[in-house]
Amino acid sequence: MNANLEQIKAEILAGAEELTSSKEVYEFKKKFLDGKTGKIGLLMREMKNIAPEERAAYGKGVNELKEWALEFLGGLDEKMKAKELQDRYEAEKIDISLPAVTVKEGNLHPITLVRNQIIDIFAGMGFEIFEGTEIETDYYNFTALNTPQDHPARDMQDTFYLSPEFLLRTQTSAGQIHVMENKKPPIKILSPGKVFRSDDDATHSPMFTQMEGLVVDKGITLCDLQGMLDEFVKKIYGEGTKTRLRPSYFPFTEPSVEVDCSCFECGGKGCKLCKGTGWIEILGAGIVNNKVLENCGIDSNEYSGLAFGIGIERTAMLKYGINNIKLLFESDIKVLNQLNDK
Ligand code: PHE
Repeated sequence: MNANLEQIKAEILAGAEELTSSKEVYEFKKKFLDGKTGKIGLLMREMKNIAPEERAAYGKGVNELKEWALEFLGGLDEKMKAKELQDRYEAEKIDISLPAVTVKEGNLHPITLVRNQIIDIFAGMGFEIFEGTEIETDYYNFTALNTPQDHPARDMQDTFYLSPEFLLRTQTSAGQIHVMENKKPPIKILSPGKVFRSDDDATHSPMFTQMEGLVVDKGITLCDLQGMLDEFVKKIYGEGTKTRLRPSYFPFTEPSVEVDCSCFECGGKGCKLCKGTGWIEILGAGIVNNKVLENCGIDSNEYSGLAFGIGIERTAMLKYGINNIKLLFESDIKVLNQLNDK
């Protein structure tokens, strides 16, 4: 009998050498210790066939073997599990010195950023948005704006004509007429949009974006214009920035002005950006010409208006220090990444 127990013990010791995982230990354990089919389990079941006088010794021997096997294989199981856990830790180890995987966040395009900023500033002064169309008639783009056929001012803007009547608008000023035809004063609108001119160099592009402003009410003067533009310039270029109005000419405003702001780069001392003058031209504006009001059926004895047109690309170029307008249209991610306000 003892020889049999010794043999099972030897079998367990030898078999254990071959085991490589806790799963194998579990199966191996079952082979010996399962109550019904295991080798030691079967020895226990043999108990009833043993002569009563040998039963105590037999039971003791089998029990001892069972206790030993449980402890031995339990220990082995623990060791296997510890090793398996260690292996898993190794496999799942995170190298915290590796650069983090970052999610690239998109930005608004500088033209959109500047357009939104301008809208925010004027919306704060009570302006509403009017969006006109990119295809206009000659009447809205020129004639109604006091620029009839053969008017020399038509040469100021090289126009893409689609037909003798239709054209790609050269200025958002065309929207002024639509607004004044459809709405009685008081009027306070801001009109952003694309405009087109046959013009192409480092600072001009055949397509660019403007922001038109129009205010019509009783008693509107150049002071209102200067006040609003002062506020605009301070908000967009910085608190210390000053404005100055210079006489100019547009057929649809009288008087007409060109608006400069003090150079925000050098503070007015003179630098490359302001070409040594201390001032930078930023937009065209003026008091709405009485003829334009009358063209839209507004009594110029009762009402007056102011208008301004801001070039959005020009504003973005000044704000971000861009020297070529093409950079705003090429969508080079290396350029765009440098141009955001975050
Ligand atoms: N429409 C003019 C331009 O494109 C700008 C402007 C708008 C001037 C409104 C005066 C008043 O040059």
